[in-house]
Amino acid sequence: MQECCWPILSPKVQTHVYIVMILRRDKVFTQYNKFNPFEKEIWLSTPTMHGEEMEYVKSAVENNWVSTVGENINEAERIAAEKVGCKYAVGLSCGTDALHLCMKLANVHAGDRVASSDLTFVASTNPITYEGGVPVFIDSEYQTWNMDPEALEKALEIYPEIKVVVVANLYGTPAKLSEIQDVCKKASKKNGGREILIVEDAAESLGASYRGKQTGTFGTYNAISFNGNKIITGSAGGMLLTDDLEAANKARKWSTQSREAAPWYQHEESGFNYRMSNIIAGFVRGQFPHLEEHIAQKKAIYIRYKEGFKGLPVQMNPYDVENSEPNFWLSCMLLEPDAMCPQARDDFHAVYRPEKGKTCPTEILEILAKYNAEGRPIWKPLSQQPLYRHCAFVTKYGYGRATTNAYIAGGGHNVGLDIFDRGLCLPSDNKMAPDEQDKIIEIIRACFQ
Ligand SMILES: Cc1ncc(COP(=O)(O)O)c(C=O)c1O
Repeated sequence: MQECCWPILSPKVQTHVYIVMILRRDKVFTQYNKFNPFEKEIWLSTPTMHGEEMEYVKSAVENNWVSTVGENINEAERIAAEKVGCKYAVGLSCGTDALHLCMKLANVHAGDRVASSDLTFVASTNPITYEGGVPVFIDSEYQTWNMDPEALEKALEIYPEIKVVVVANLYGTPAKLSEIQDVCKKASKKNGGREILIVEDAAESLGASYRGKQTGTFGTYNAISFNGNKIITGSAGGMLLTDDLEAANKARKWSTQSREAAPWYQHEESGFNYRMSNIIAGFVRGQFPHLEEHIAQKKAIYIRYKEGFKGLPVQMNPYDVENSEPNFWLSCMLLEPDAMCPQARDDFHAVYRPEKGKTCPTEILEILAKYNAEGRPIWKPLSQQPLYRHCAFVTKYGYGRATTNAYIAGGGHNVGLDIFDRGLCLPSDNKMAPDEQDKIIEIIRACFQ
């Protein structure tokens, strides 16, 4: 395993590395001269419209149902619940709002510790803090890149007071969700039966399944997102999913400013303006019939990369082939440690020193950008973010910070950080043509020369 945790670079060292990079750049460009940049940018992941969206939006506009009630909302909620296989779906302005309401339903209060996936987008964790909760970040495992059940088990031993676990399914790949459920049940038994609730952040994994069950159903409360770059989109929007009627009703009430049943505007608890609009819902309604088609297109992209990279010292973002079917939202790659040229990142910069026969995510992303193709670094682990550096981080070996010793070799296990260091997200737009993808594969292959 490779550690990327280099010290922050001094301006002098940075200047030196930049000079080395500039000198090397000529070499890089002669090497890639055989390719011309794409005329039209190849994107990471963009919305794909089909026409039905417009029909539903148009009908809402024509019938003057453009606010937060209407047939589109009712139908979008019904379709989502049916597709995912849960009893209730509550339409909201975005997935982050859904996660916030999950935290409220889970009774997260000031000072409560909440376990969270570490290698994920910041929106998985921020809602914990909206309610005053304190995140405890759980390291990833290498089989799915998601929350490591063993690390979670350790965290629940170290912090037996944890009562909620937020688990995300990274890039559309289900986490080891049943194992995570088992760990929570076991720890709960040890705690005298106090339940440990799971909140599943399925924002990136709509349509993916684990052991035959759709993601978004493994938590007591779950969230999905219809953000513009997701597998299907409402241009924005999200939903809270649950089997608990009382919880769904509460979430609906909270999302519409918590109005009580009085003839006037009566309020006994604080609320939010989080409800999905009937326009967004129309969009979502028009996209749902195309979910499986988008998944098939994304899967074909993943398989084409996998084939195209054969022989290179890389692997694609892995998944549990026996038990899960991802939605393949983003294709990613991970370089073997020996194939990495030196690369360093501080909080704002990334530098690398090119080497023959080796490359690194920073170089590949830079070269892709030169050719008009959009890749992206892997999410930077949240435990490494300045925002959350004060929070606990737990690996399968226990407390994950301060684990090296100046006088003893070894230590410093951090799977998420390693994946961040060696991995990248590849252009995964479902409108990318096979020959365009082949060219991206060629460009990336050339980086290893
Ligand atoms: C893992 C994850 N969680 C939560 C969110 C938040 O969703 P939204 O953008 O709809 O608020 C996103 C995406 O944006 C996400 O990728």
